[in-house]
Amino acid sequence: MSSSMEEVVETLPQHTCSWLKGKITMHKYQDFWTSKQLLVGGILAQQSFKAEPSDVLLCSAPKTGTTWLKSLAFAIVTREKYDESATPLLTKLVHECVPFLERQVEEIEGNRKNSSLPLVATHLPYASLPNSVAASNCKIVYIYRNIKDVIVSNYHFRREAMKLSMEDAPFEEAFEEFCQGISSYGPYWDHILGYWKASLETPERILFLKYEDLKRKPTSNVKRLAEFIGHPFSVNEEKAGVVDNIIKLCSFENLSNLEVNKTGKPEGGSLENRLYYRKAEDGDWKNYFTDEMKEKIDKLTDEKLGHTGLVLK
Ligand code: A3P
Repeated sequence: MSSSMEEVVETLPQHTCSWLKGKITMHKYQDFWTSKQLLVGGILAQQSFKAEPSDVLLCSAPKTGTTWLKSLAFAIVTREKYDESATPLLTKLVHECVPFLERQVEEIEGNRKNSSLPLVATHLPYASLPNSVAASNCKIVYIYRNIKDVIVSNYHFRREAMKLSMEDAPFEEAFEEFCQGISSYGPYWDHILGYWKASLETPERILFLKYEDLKRKPTSNVKRLAEFIGHPFSVNEEKAGVVDNIIKLCSFENLSNLEVNKTGKPEGGSLENRLYYRKAEDGDWKNYFTDEMKEKIDKLTDEKLGHTGLVLK
């Protein structure tokens, strides 16, 4: 990191997560919170990412279905290149197949000439996307999820990443922090709102997908996704079961049981692949929330998103 960038980051509001035993400090930049490393990567991306009209940005807040969306989009756009039994999704964590803007902008730009993969993933809020994204008019797919399940998913992911037991990482504190808007790329409500407003202004450019809808109606939503990103399924492909095969390939049951996702770790990375595959259960929040917590989140969600018609409770 350049010293000037370091200096800028040090001047920003900071918050040390006490429930993570002080192991993580978040910084607030352009109204969102994130770790120093991701923030620096995000600023670098704002300065150097040159989106092209053919790019497809896969956008999400953490723990809302990023891994699933990336797997589906990758399987859709590479279905002619790879035979089902030879897709890299079987041997690599999907985060190694689809680049992440805040960590890999230099690689993305450096590979432009050699790579035909149009996909780039990011957690940046809409307002903080590099200017080239709007200028290029490239497509954006946004996935969102029931806030209560996001809170639980976020709790376990960050706790396990820091190697803390549940006894050592009080859920109540993680919950309060999330409610205060201090979550990775949070406040989560603002993250959704930013993309939601943009999707109303330019619906042809932004597809909104709900994690729970994708689960309940995978076929129609996967077809929607494929069409939106410019890789629609032909009638013959549908008849041949290509849509169903992609859904099965990318299912939690399949991907979470692959050896690479059970025991693997990306080269040079510190997080185990299994952390991206926990339970994938709708309503797991019921095992953690008190009645008061439920009321608090419902109230906050009504206040912040009630007018949108988005159902997140
Ligand atoms: P849980 O913690 O509730 O199990 P992200 O990919 O944005 O980090 O989100 C992770 C969440 O998505 C985790 O939720 C994880 O289990 C779930 N997930 C990962 N792969 C999935 C898949 N193929 N289908 C459905 N859910 C998936």
